[in-house]
Amino acid sequence: MEDVIELARRRGFLWPSYEIYGGASGFYDYGPLGAALKNRVEDLWRRFFVIGEGYMEISSPAIGVEEVFRASGHVSHFVDPIVTCEKCGEGFRADHLLKEKGVDTDGMTYEELDEELSKRKVRCPACGGGLSRINTFNLMFKTGIGAAGRTGYLRPETAQNIFILFNRLYEFYRKKLPFGVAQLGRAYRNEISPRQGLLRLREFSQAEAEVFVDPGSKDRHPRFPEVSHVKLRLLPGDGEPRELTAAEMVEKGIVAHQYLAYHMVRTYQFLREAGIPVERIRFRQHRKTEMAHYACDCWDAEVLTERYGWVEVVGIADRTDYDLRSHIRESGVDLKAFLRFDTPKREKRVILEPDMKRLGPVYKDKAKEVGELIRASDPGKVKGDGSIDIVVEGERLNIEKGMFSKKTVEERVEGEKIIPHVIEPSFGIDRIIYCILESARTTEERNGEERTVLRLKPAIAPYDVAVFSLVSKEGLDEKAFEVFEMLREKGFLALYDTSGTIGRRYARADEIGVPYAVTVDFQTLEDDTVTIRDRDTMKQERVKIADLAERL
Ligand code: ATP
Ligand code: GLY
Repeated sequence: MEDVIELARRRGFLWPSYEIYGGASGFYDYGPLGAALKNRVEDLWRRFFVIGEGYMEISSPAIGVEEVFRASGHVSHFVDPIVTCEKCGEGFRADHLLKEKGVDTDGMTYEELDEELSKRKVRCPACGGGLSRINTFNLMFKTGIGAAGRTGYLRPETAQNIFILFNRLYEFYRKKLPFGVAQLGRAYRNEISPRQGLLRLREFSQAEAEVFVDPGSKDRHPRFPEVSHVKLRLLPGDGEPRELTAAEMVEKGIVAHQYLAYHMVRTYQFLREAGIPVERIRFRQHRKTEMAHYACDCWDAEVLTERYGWVEVVGIADRTDYDLRSHIRESGVDLKAFLRFDTPKREKRVILEPDMKRLGPVYKDKAKEVGELIRASDPGKVKGDGSIDIVVEGERLNIEKGMFSKKTVEERVEGEKIIPHVIEPSFGIDRIIYCILESARTTEERNGEERTVLRLKPAIAPYDVAVFSLVSKEGLDEKAFEVFEMLREKGFLALYDTSGTIGRRYARADEIGVPYAVTVDFQTLEDDTVTIRDRDTMKQERVKIADLAERL
């Protein structure tokens, strides 16, 4: 793992941020190769979910107003238990300190964590000082918006933006369920003493989709037959590992419904396409005690890493109607979908019927309006004395008993309003990138020399192709530059490298994962052909320059 990080630093994938000012943990810069790799991983994600599933992407502000996170529960629930060193002042996650000592902290109360820390005489890992008792620490970054300082927070997940836009999105999708909406963007969490590189950042990238679905239809995903045969490794909440097809996991009730299972398979297929070895992927169900406050079922896609063991890279949750319901409560805005019945129903309903003969003489030219307002009123609002209050042109009027009556009518009902449920696959792009780099880096002996190769899948490699001239004389380098320009014009992300021997240039390209190297040699000047060298097999084939782009 040190080699991966060393390679990533040396070759311009990843640099710890703010180095010239002493650094700040939890922040990383993606260098030119890292940013290209990240863009490609995100493009692959878009191919799967935006193009493949039709989950159109939105892009919202990273700063949210306080109401959003009060409603979502993040202001009160998004907290971690911390202890602070009484000597050096450093803060630590209490559960992490105990986990490092082999304690299973799952489900422990704060009192139990406190007890366990003192029983085991845990001290500050940085300086050995004594530790405080547990306090809670909210992970959101708080900020003030504008001169008046309206409270805002940097979003801890991209999802909330999608929930609060529900009505606009529902209209965009022509008022039909199900529909999905995606967002790729930065999320912010003020993690306590992050010490795991790209795995625990304070600013990181998420790719999330929120799929709004009729709760009564979660058991039937329209594309489930396409994935039902795919086998996944599961670690259900009961702890017994199993390998089951998507169809079996739903039939046996291990995964709650087809919508969750479908997105688990799509996640597996994405990770495989991104280059994670399938034998290193499993899905672990959250135990009730670790479930996020908004979820009723959640499966994490985990990847087995050399350095950190199993690492969560994606969370796939059934968020139920929790978020929409909470935003309805906080904002007072109706965030609901209309579900049409297969066949309209006839339903009996009690209404208020105005008596126009009695209203006319009292309310004169306003009588018609008063009558309509009475008819639109909720019969439950009739007071104990039989009167009802209505508001006419901003003025409250009390309509006396006898001016209207209760009446039962039979109506044709076309459908009902419901709060959709949300299925959410939430991908952490940085963690996926770490796993890709770790599994792609290989070393092997070739002719007595060690060769390092970053076996990135061509779809995500930072460069598509490198172009070299065998030697820099007799016009070979000019010809190579022409080939390089031609490939760039055709849309290839190409690298042109002239320094050092051809062997060193191949080695450098292998180390940063360039899948193909094109070399111009003396034969090129005679017959307009070049060689293409495959990074992984090192085999070469000769092609005409005219056919090169097509062949690549
Ligand atoms: P953990 O338990 O490891 O803190 P989490 O369960 O809080 O993670 P989620 O809230 O489910 O994570 O976030 C969704 C995804 O975002 C995760 O699967 C992960 O890939 C990513 N993620 C979460 N926190 C971080 C972080 N601090 N740095 C990098 N990626 C993160
Ligand atoms: N949107 C899921 C999470 O970030 O927790």
